[in-house]
Amino acid sequence: MQILGIAGSLRKASYNAGVLRAAQQLAPPEVTFNTFDLSPIPVYNQDLDATPPAAVTQFKTAIRAADAIVIATPEYNYSVPGILKNAIDWASRPYGDSAWLNKPIALMGASVGTFGTARAQYHLRQSFIFLDAYVLNQPEVMISNASQRFDKDGNLTDDKTKEFIKAQLEALVAWARKLAK
Ligand code: FNR
Repeated sequence: MQILGIAGSLRKASYNAGVLRAAQQLAPPEVTFNTFDLSPIPVYNQDLDATPPAAVTQFKTAIRAADAIVIATPEYNYSVPGILKNAIDWASRPYGDSAWLNKPIALMGASVGTFGTARAQYHLRQSFIFLDAYVLNQPEVMISNASQRFDKDGNLTDDKTKEFIKAQLEALVAWARKLAK
């Protein structure tokens, strides 16, 4: 079972990159958990749909090769960070060649606020409805007050949060298996 992790933040000490590092440790033993760095992906331009930049082609190939996707994202201004939405848009094009079609996806997120990226996650779900991906409903992982649950380098230190992540990964593996039948 191949899982691809995508962080919606480029920040060096990102809590959400830390969520993915924790997920790599907490995933069931049969899972190979790779991550894709969004920093080389340029700003989307529909003129380039037929000749996408190499980083975009690599991103789509990585999504297609994965049995399931984990997105760990912050919330920016009550919604999805631009870098993540931008990457999702690239991988959805050209029309009819989306890498997201039928892909099992789990959403996680950490924010310094009290809503733990809930608004960003629900906006992501909306995009994935159009893209016909299968976003896992439950359990949700919304990590609030991140500064109290991660160290200064963005490593997750809170055991309760680790349990939530582990439970969601187990549910994602079961979800991906069910969909693959
Ligand atoms: C934020 N932050 C934030 N937090 C939140 O809970 N709700 C929000 O709407 C926003 N909006 C927002 C906008 C912008 C442009 C930035 C840069 C930040 C704060 C955010 O939770 C905090 O910066 C996290 O540390 C971002 O996650 P990473 O980078 O640590 O993964």
